[in-house]
Amino acid sequence: MRTAIFDTHDFEQKVFAKENLSFGHELTFFPMGLRQETASLAAGFPCVCPFVNDDLSKATLEKLKAGGTVLIALRSAGFNHVDLNAAKDLGLSVVRVPEYSPFAVAEHAVAMLLTLNRKTHRAYNRVREGNFSLSGLVGFDLHGKTVGVIGTGKIGKVFATIMQGFGCRILLNDITEDKDLALKTGGKYTTLNDIFSTADIISLHLPLKKETHHLIDESAFDKMKKGVILINTGRGALIDTKALIKNLKNGRVGAAGLDVYEEESGVFFQDHSGQIMTDDVLARLMTFSNVLITGHQAFLTNEALENIAATTLENISAFQRGEALRNSVL
Ligand code: NAI
Repeated sequence: MRTAIFDTHDFEQKVFAKENLSFGHELTFFPMGLRQETASLAAGFPCVCPFVNDDLSKATLEKLKAGGTVLIALRSAGFNHVDLNAAKDLGLSVVRVPEYSPFAVAEHAVAMLLTLNRKTHRAYNRVREGNFSLSGLVGFDLHGKTVGVIGTGKIGKVFATIMQGFGCRILLNDITEDKDLALKTGGKYTTLNDIFSTADIISLHLPLKKETHHLIDESAFDKMKKGVILINTGRGALIDTKALIKNLKNGRVGAAGLDVYEEESGVFFQDHSGQIMTDDVLARLMTFSNVLITGHQAFLTNEALENIAATTLENISAFQRGEALRNSVL
């Protein structure tokens, strides 16, 4: 099937091309993101494959439809960037990759936590300059600390299990409880308020939707323990970033690991090193030595890339064969 793949990077083009040897779709890679202004590039492509920060608002979808697109094959798990009502009204099918490697994301969350706690990001820079001082590098044992895992789906489960391996006490929160996970990790399902007030570390693994937008807001920070480490590999807007900055300044938050940021669209995945930063909130976040920002790279492992490509291509083939779409989001 003729497929326009938007917002592509060299590392994924190679993987898509290799996986496609078994599928034989006609793939065209566009480096630019998909939005209303670029949607005309997809004219004549029955399938469009957007990435996680592409804009799939009603206006973009209408342009795609007018150009002959019938299938939106997301190469992401999250679909908060798609106007699903508009897609439905326009008769567009939307499929996604519900799972590609929960390990990739959970392990990245752990990497951020270990870095922030043991300050290896600061040590790395110091040692390169011949500074072997240990001042300011004191961390704490993870063993025995309380970890709050909010969202215990595929990624949250792996994260909770890894943290249990460190000897942490696990608190879990989800709208659906997983008894096996609680048993396996010795964890306990509890309220958000309990997690906020007792956890030394909080990690977010839930989707962005109306009910979870700014889940971590001023009132949530007010309840947290002083010095809490907050990790977000979920979606940026789960956290009210301005409230986070306030609580970094007053010391309530001891450190924050952010793989996602509420205004990341148009910033992440691109090299802006030669430009003036215009996002003052992001610029302020970047000044804290106890904030670690990565540009939405938690998914970025070989295994995840292969799974994303294989599932996306299989989703397209299933659509072409007229089968019921098991990865449909509509
Ligand atoms: P999943 O669907 O397996 O798990 C999400 C869990 O969140 C579910 O158990 C669900 O019941 C729970 N949940 C939903 N609403 C909730 C609420 N209001 N309160 C508490 N729990 C709630 O999804 P998965 O694969 O574990 O991914 C989680 C999120 O991670 C995705 O939605 C996506 O936003 C993000 N993600 C980030 C990546 C990155 O590279 N940074 C890569 C992949 C996913």
